Amino acid sequence: MFMEKVIAYTRVSEAVRKKLQEKYDVIYFENYEYLNDPKFVQALKETSGIIGLELKVTKELLDLAPILKIVSNVSVGYDNLDIEELTKRNIMATNTPEVLTNTVADAVLGMILATARRIPELDRFVKNGEWKQYLQLEHFGLDVHKKTVGIIGMGSIGEAIAKRCHAGFDMNVLYYNRSRKQNIEDEFNAIYSNLDDLLKRSDFVVLMVPASPQTEKMIGKEAFSQMKKTAIFINGSRGQNIDENALYDALTSKQISAAALDVFDIEPVDSNNPLLKLDNVVTLPHIGAATIENELAMSNLAAKNLEAGLKNERPVNLINTDIFITK
Ligand code: GLV
Repeated sequence: MFMEKVIAYTRVSEAVRKKLQEKYDVIYFENYEYLNDPKFVQALKETSGIIGLELKVTKELLDLAPILKIVSNVSVGYDNLDIEELTKRNIMATNTPEVLTNTVADAVLGMILATARRIPELDRFVKNGEWKQYLQLEHFGLDVHKKTVGIIGMGSIGEAIAKRCHAGFDMNVLYYNRSRKQNIEDEFNAIYSNLDDLLKRSDFVVLMVPASPQTEKMIGKEAFSQMKKTAIFINGSRGQNIDENALYDALTSKQISAAALDVFDIEPVDSNNPLLKLDNVVTLPHIGAATIENELAMSNLAAKNLEAGLKNERPVNLINTDIFITK
């Protein structure tokens, strides 16, 4: 029986890969050297669908994939895809919004608490045997409850963060977004703000916008200079959205007090990145969506999108909605 070929790469849960294997000829790449890998290039030539996390889908890659119908991202972000090029070639692109919302919001709250209460730093302090007397003021953190959080980017993840900050920590919520969201204002007393005011007034500045040419390095020298000296900056979005050098300067000159980064300009982060040397930065390996439960939920949704696309049907999470679909 003829089975269409599918490339699965990096993070597609094993259970979902097994299900796909019943219907498709699935070739799985856990580690691959992209277009330098002859096996990967050969698979591209024959594949109708691609499913996985953060494969750079460029014009060059698409030139090698003549019968490709769909690229199904196991992520909400799709800055890895050249949407214009995919659309030109009438290839569907999908992502996995909503399923990961609460998982990512949990991680962001974790980063807020970790930086404010200096949890990773003090964990190292205890394990290094440095806790020899009652805790001194120099190791004290800052309160989270009743503080002001400024959320830049009020998509569903931003909303889930606002909910937690308001309901769980009695915080004041400011937000900056392309459009106003009445429900956030009604439910979480959130205040719509321009970016300058948000930066000036927030104790915690949380960046949650997708990566795009418009958001590239949107938080840089100028933005850090507007923040409070006690401000804590949290990036749960994409590394490209901030200027890492400017953040380093802001942290070392005590322009702001601390930061937590789940994402970096280059991932995996270069071990020589100077930010990794600072005690007042919590660094994480892009854990936002990475829980066991959510991995399965995202993989399942991505597989549904893939299957629809392979049947020439419209997937629920189609990104390039203006392409021509036969069914
Ligand atoms: C995670 O970063 C995602 O885009 O899903």
